[in-house]
Amino acid sequence: MNVIHLSAECYPVAKVGGLGDVVGALPKYQCLAGVNASVVMPFYDRKFTRDNRFETVYEGSSTLGNRPFHFTVLKEITNQLGFSLYLIRIPGLLDRPEVYCYNDESEQFLAFQVAFLDWIVQREERPHILHCHDHHMGLVPFLITSSYRYRSLANVPTVVTVHNGQYQGWMSWDKADLLPEIDLSKKGLLDWDGVINPLAAAIKCCWRFTAVSPSYMAELSHNSNGLEYLFAAESGKGQGIINGIDTEVWNPQTDPMLARKYNVRSVAAGKQANKEPLAGASGLDPSKPLVAFIGRLVNEKGADLLPGAIRLSLEKNPGLNFLVLGSGEAEIEDQLRELNELFPGRYHATIGYNEVLSHKIYAAADFLVMPSRVEPCGLNQLYSLRYGTMPIVRSTGGLKDTVIDIETPEGYGITFTSLSVAGICAAIDRAVALYPDTARTGTLRKKMMGLDFSWHQSANQYINLYNSLY
Ligand code: ADP
Ligand code: GLC
Repeated sequence: MNVIHLSAECYPVAKVGGLGDVVGALPKYQCLAGVNASVVMPFYDRKFTRDNRFETVYEGSSTLGNRPFHFTVLKEITNQLGFSLYLIRIPGLLDRPEVYCYNDESEQFLAFQVAFLDWIVQREERPHILHCHDHHMGLVPFLITSSYRYRSLANVPTVVTVHNGQYQGWMSWDKADLLPEIDLSKKGLLDWDGVINPLAAAIKCCWRFTAVSPSYMAELSHNSNGLEYLFAAESGKGQGIINGIDTEVWNPQTDPMLARKYNVRSVAAGKQANKEPLAGASGLDPSKPLVAFIGRLVNEKGADLLPGAIRLSLEKNPGLNFLVLGSGEAEIEDQLRELNELFPGRYHATIGYNEVLSHKIYAAADFLVMPSRVEPCGLNQLYSLRYGTMPIVRSTGGLKDTVIDIETPEGYGITFTSLSVAGICAAIDRAVALYPDTARTGTLRKKMMGLDFSWHQSANQYINLYNSLY
């Protein structure tokens, strides 16, 4: 079975968040399970694309409205990722360093999707499944259903995965002029609340859709930034499949980014050996319990509550240390930076994106806090479990599906429900109270590291879904 994943991100080529992790791992595990999975993504001018070799497999010309553009499809030569990787390069649109945040983002992803379909439609061999990730690729199912140019692809099943329903790719209606000629009776499929909504169009037009956890699948019908009615109406073709993690990349026993590698038997000494240099570099005390936050500094992650919660927790618990790694909204970044001066020796915030530092923190921290408002799946808690670091999570979406509270016999994490500074602080208080009990934390660390959140099972769930379609 030939499956093409379409995504804006794919680790290690380009990653902004969990979407990159998932698309860098799921196809690899699908290939191991016997599926011929490949990834097609935009070309970005980044380290991976500069350092690796590609061959041109197709060149074409197309148009965005009346603007002509030229594109090249490049294939990575060595297959080093465990699946075939294709990049579509469009000079002037898809040849820049960043993944998102350009003013012409709509044009970039539109041109990508048009170029992809132009390439696929002229090939004799049809893919068996097109798997589109998030709104950036959401117009593919629509264009296949509605554009005359791609009519011959109408029998190719499309699967859409919703990683994050908060972002929908909204465009004003004047952008409709940029699309290839479509059957006008289908034009309404693009619309939601008076604007072009690529995520809504994807859900309406795809054969099946998935959400990245069963709880998030259920939540979409009640809380999806305006698409609740649509998700409820289309729920018959939806399914929740929990993400896995790439256990080769995220393995404390082999992780080259750590100061000391460790496994379940050496977890206590291993974590301490990672904590010491990290605490030293940030001016913290490695003998104290260390709580960390890693992530995008946006309301969705509860990051707006973080400065208040950190301040109160540090004031209440003189023995506590706190580390933050993140970037996002300027106001939250400023507030987190300001705390550096208030709690020297006990708190440190690194504002920015740093993959290596994130690995070091997962290994060194005792606890990882995730006060998310919305969390479709969440990978941080899965990485932290694998590194023997106890997650402190607000029970929502995928966090609810993956973290069980230590109050229950099978538990291994700290969960809370109240979305407030007091709620976060109360959960951190529980962590601080647990920390001195080295026997219990030792047992819990072993339990966490023994959990299996690898991709094997979830990759098979996707394969079963594909099998039901073609
Ligand atoms: P989301 O995709 O919503 O941001 P996930 O929990 O699914 O959340 O995935 C986040 C991914 O991005 C994880 O791999 C996490 O380690 C990584 N990450 C987030 N912020 C940073 C950062 N500032 N530096 C390095 N890695 C980060
Ligand atoms: C999104 C979600 C996150 C999820 C990730 C990968 O970015 O916010 O919860 O883990 O996608 O599916």
